[in-house]
Amino acid sequence: PERGDAAEVRLERDGHLAVVTIDRPKALNALSASVLTALGETFDALAAEGPAVRGVILTGAGGRAFVAGADIVALSELTPEQGAELGRLGHRVAATIESLAAPVIACVDGFALGGGLELALACDLIYATDASSFGQPEVKLGLVPGFGGTVRLPRAVGLARAKELIYTGRRIDAAEAVAAGLVTRSFPDRESLLAGARTTLEQVAENSASAVAIAKRVLVAASGTPTETATQLEVRGFEDAFRTDDMREGVAAFIEKREPRFTGS
Ligand code: HXC
Repeated sequence: PERGDAAEVRLERDGHLAVVTIDRPKALNALSASVLTALGETFDALAAEGPAVRGVILTGAGGRAFVAGADIVALSELTPEQGAELGRLGHRVAATIESLAAPVIACVDGFALGGGLELALACDLIYATDASSFGQPEVKLGLVPGFGGTVRLPRAVGLARAKELIYTGRRIDAAEAVAAGLVTRSFPDRESLLAGARTTLEQVAENSASAVAIAKRVLVAASGTPTETATQLEVRGFEDAFRTDDMREGVAAFIEKREPRFTGS
């Protein structure tokens, strides 16, 4: 397929929610450069829609995998410099997801391995079916995580668990992933997984879009920074919230004992 082939990454609308589906089931949705490029373009397009998008579900097609990692066949042909370029492409996609104002839930139904787990970690939340499995198997290939696994996995599960997962390359099931704090909720099947993610995003969408966007911006920026930097980022976000119409409306509605009418500005 050509770079950015729309067929490999599908974007569907569901009211003010969006569903992004990685659709390359024959390779268990493995991330080729074209899939990564298409993902980046899809999230750029969602960002361009601004406040019309209140939440995003990211999932994989085919019923076996979220994403089974970077495309190993493509990796086999890369020079070190091209490998670095692929890593940078992955990091740009992660940054696009993290800079989207609306929350993104990775809905994992099957394998989330290597770059697949790293892609899920760039989302705000990971929900999964019970039959899913997670791992960073790169060392089994003589590789190391390259799309943020050494950065975001320790933040999600703690340094010791991240080291154990990355050094062993072992796969964990959804129950262990929930216990580790990697997955927030698990569900018996795909249907309830997607319904659960929708329910959460609708609950978020009842709140001020600008407040949620500021909270996400601060959480993403502060993650992993020293306390001093993180608290300064929070103060700035708190100040920004005071500049919004939604904050005036939300506080007034509480005092007047009525429901707020948020506009997202
Ligand atoms: C390319 C892949 C693939 C991958 C699976 N396939 N994973 N192709 N890249 N990452 C293909 C298989 O070759 C096979 O194609 C088809 O998908 C079905 O997979 P099977 O292996 O036949 O299925 P199964 O036996 O059930 O095993 C499933 C699996 C296994 C355990 C997920 O496929 C597997 O271990 N995949 C690789 C997982 C991995 O190592 N990921 C990390 C990649 S490195 P055919 O044509 O034979 O049907 C990485 C680095 C990120 O992600 C950083 C980069 C900068």
